[in-house]
Amino acid sequence: TYVVTENCIRCKYMDCVEVCPVDCFYAGENFLVISPEECIDCGVCEPECPAEAIFPDSDNRAADWLELNAELSKSWPNMSRKGDTPADADEWNGKTDKKNMLSR
Ligand code: SF4
Ligand code: F3S
Repeated sequence: TYVVTENCIRCKYMDCVEVCPVDCFYAGENFLVISPEECIDCGVCEPECPAEAIFPDSDNRAADWLELNAELSKSWPNMSRKGDTPADADEWNGKTDKKNMLSR
């Protein structure tokens, strides 16, 4: 599976959802996740993310985030169309320590 990681928080560009062939993204208020049960590992979302927040689970940058993607994809609504990106998304791109800002 591919995994959405920290830099998506408060960026939420959603270019990823537009390209996913199986619509396996699920959205919270300021973060998206991928359902590991539905992702077919095609990899097309990874280069589309302007925040470079998506990694394959084989990448160690995904390690801390895989379980969270699995958990939240079960409770958040599915998203298959790009919505409005937060107005201040660019200001948060690249900021570290965003994990505690994740809205569940
Ligand atoms: Fe969707 Fe492919 Fe990305 Fe998995 S790797 S989330 S199937 S676009
Ligand atoms: Fe997040 Fe990147 Fe998608 S910022 S919403 S993973 S395009």
